Amino acid sequence: MKLKYLKIKGEACLSGDVEVSGSKNAILPILFSSLLVKGHHFFTNVPKLKDVEDALEMLKDLGLKTKQLQNQLFIDNSYSFEKNPAFKKASSFRASILCLGPLMALSYRLKLPLPGGCQIGSRPIDLHLEGLRKMGVSISIQKKKILAIPPAKGLKACHFKLPFPSVGATENLIMACVLAKGTSYLENIAYEPEILDLITYLKKMGAKIERKKRTLKITGVKKLKALKKSYSIIPDRIEAGTWLLAGACTRGQICIKKCNPKHLSFLLKKLKSLGFKIESQSDQILLKKSNKNYPGISIKTGVYPSFPTDLQAQFMALMLTLKGESSLKETIFEKRFRYIEQLNNLGAGIQFQGSSKVYVKGPAVLKAKSITAHDLRAGAGLILAALTSKGITKLYGLQHLERGYENLVFKLRYLGAEVKIQSP
Ligand code: EPZ
Repeated sequence: MKLKYLKIKGEACLSGDVEVSGSKNAILPILFSSLLVKGHHFFTNVPKLKDVEDALEMLKDLGLKTKQLQNQLFIDNSYSFEKNPAFKKASSFRASILCLGPLMALSYRLKLPLPGGCQIGSRPIDLHLEGLRKMGVSISIQKKKILAIPPAKGLKACHFKLPFPSVGATENLIMACVLAKGTSYLENIAYEPEILDLITYLKKMGAKIERKKRTLKITGVKKLKALKKSYSIIPDRIEAGTWLLAGACTRGQICIKKCNPKHLSFLLKKLKSLGFKIESQSDQILLKKSNKNYPGISIKTGVYPSFPTDLQAQFMALMLTLKGESSLKETIFEKRFRYIEQLNNLGAGIQFQGSSKVYVKGPAVLKAKSITAHDLRAGAGLILAALTSKGITKLYGLQHLERGYENLVFKLRYLGAEVKIQSP
């Protein structure tokens, strides 16, 4: 079967302005949190993405009404929930698991297909389940479905130290605790900006949440109140970082607008340490043009505020343009290097040091070929590498990119990239 692909002309030099969309990983937990509150919810700066569409399908399965017009989203949660919906989309993305916390808080017996998402590791959900069991939920997994039965008298507050600061488990447990009886303490939580956006939204609806570093104190309330006005979703820091690295790879001058530089301080620090000239203002970042040869660098991914695993592949594309030895260690997902084989098809010459570390001696001379993206952020990294290659690359696996980058081809073209989707 012939598949559509993205044709990418190499030796590009991107330049110009690009506007960042709202954060995929912020709107996903926030739209599931609307389950907690009867009434109307209105959001702005919402990206039009496949994962958002799939999450809204799940809300509709439960009986809610939703409408997304461009980047505005309206959710009407005034109806009683359907019993036993099929949740057909649940297994097509990771964030479907985030309906678990709110529905347990509402004493809703749930049968939910196991989540899907990028194949970047085993992606277990044991931490989500361990925390909910501590709150009295009885949970089993049968035939790839989660059967979750909340305690008859409602969730009880818990004191739970996460063995690992999991983003999704933190989000699910916050949404479970806000209506639980008593005061909960969650320790060793993740506090990515997307999680802080969820906390901000819940507090605006009346949730009692206090954070000190990696500890949350959540005092359960009887009910939350829908906002009378719209809530604007934070900008997507991973998209912003992707554009910054696209400019750096191609040595162009790019102004990234509608972003929050504070969410990218680790990346900005690394690029400045290489010698890139970068100026930041409150909602934009200017990467200045330069033809300099930059030295190699070592990077290690980690939980926020360390270097984000979601920018790992994009940074590898930059490493291939640096003059010297670079190394990259991935500490979050055990299978996030699948794209290295695709880069080596282009002539990157990247070597493995065990399964979680790679190194390369740049600059690599990449020759265009047909390559395939196997997950969302790897796809972005492959585009950046193709833009610096010689010749015209064909990138397959576009369905992954559509999940997480709004108007990707339009924005690439706007920055001067010669790219075109070729349908079979
Ligand atoms: C979220 O995934 C993001 N997805 C991912 O972004 C991101 O890469 C990841 O956080 C880390 O920052 C969304 O927000 C929708 P985790 P999540 O739970 O919640 C292990 C993208 O491209 N773990 O923090 O699934 C897990 O195996 C995507 O937008 C358990 O062991 O990430 C992994 O090794 C890709 N048990 C580590 O923790 C659990 O119960 C981090 O996972 C949960 C996680």
